[in-house]
Amino acid sequence: MASFSSTSAFSVFLLHLIIIFLGSTSRVVFADFYNEFDITWGDGRGKILSGDQLTLSLDKSSGSGFESRNEYLFGKIDMQLKLVPGNSAGTVTAYYLSSKGSNWDEIDFEFLGNLSGDPYTLHTNVFSQGKGNREQQFHLWFDPTADFHSYSILWNPQRIIFSVDGTPIREFKNAESIGVPFPKAQPMRIHSSLWNADDWATRGGLVKTDWSQAPFTASYRNFKADACVVSSAGKSSSCNNNNGSTTTSSGSNWFSEELDNTKQERLRWVQKNYMIYNYCSDSKRFPQGFPPECNTTP
Ligand SMILES: *[C@@H]1O[C@H](CO)[C@@H](O)[C@H](O)[C@H]1NC(C)=O
Ligand SMILES: *[C@@H]1O[C@H](CO)[C@@H](O)[C@H](O)[C@H]1NC(C)=O
Repeated sequence: MASFSSTSAFSVFLLHLIIIFLGSTSRVVFADFYNEFDITWGDGRGKILSGDQLTLSLDKSSGSGFESRNEYLFGKIDMQLKLVPGNSAGTVTAYYLSSKGSNWDEIDFEFLGNLSGDPYTLHTNVFSQGKGNREQQFHLWFDPTADFHSYSILWNPQRIIFSVDGTPIREFKNAESIGVPFPKAQPMRIHSSLWNADDWATRGGLVKTDWSQAPFTASYRNFKADACVVSSAGKSSSCNNNNGSTTTSSGSNWFSEELDNTKQERLRWVQKNYMIYNYCSDSKRFPQGFPPECNTTP
């Protein structure tokens, strides 16, 4: 009896240690698709092939999609994608973070397919409290269908940085001080889907999906989330300490990370050479003046 109770006291002690550990660090998750994601639609067209291999596919009857089991409130999230090769016109592969409800927040990567040899368009957007309309689009400096490349979202209380293979392509700064809502209170899940959007995606809908090429397949690997996981009860985050401060102790400073000079230069290089659309310079669309955050965007 005595030894039983000291064993359980020891387990309580261990549990306590584990709680302290989980409670004071951000969680670093390396790819295990089985544990981290659920295929949410597509009737078998989305497949987890191994702990580090997932594919989505699209044919004439349906696309497919998956979402993360965890909800995150801030994090640095990396995934490698290899997009639909060949004639992918009309297909869209979306990879994004999103919360729920009518005032949702969302951070989007969308890859718009194209005819063989013509460049994909990487479309980005940021929604805060249900309002988006903040599109920036890019061509890439490589063929995103030939191999896997990493697409990352750094989301901390000061900024959102979109990166491709470690090169920042877009920064959305927290501009709450000038009245622009910033996503910082609603936990988001990672979502991805592959679907047909030939009514608008390629050259404004002029190029239709060639179904003789179906099924279309996009592949995923090397998922990594160095992020604050919010408990299913929605109240506590793995990054909140008992004393109310937020820490991440994964050896990375992503919670306060900003672009250093080298990265700012890379960002300017991408925006100068590869950006094909920026809402902040579309004066026809905003005849009354640009949205206020445009003054903070490089
Ligand atoms: C497809 O290729 C054309 C021609 O290069 C280009 O103008 C367009 O931006 C590309 N992307 C999409 C999604 O249409
Ligand atoms: C809160 O806890 C962290 C780590 O446990 C510690 O570094 C920090 O100084 C504490 N802050 C306060 C205000 O006590």
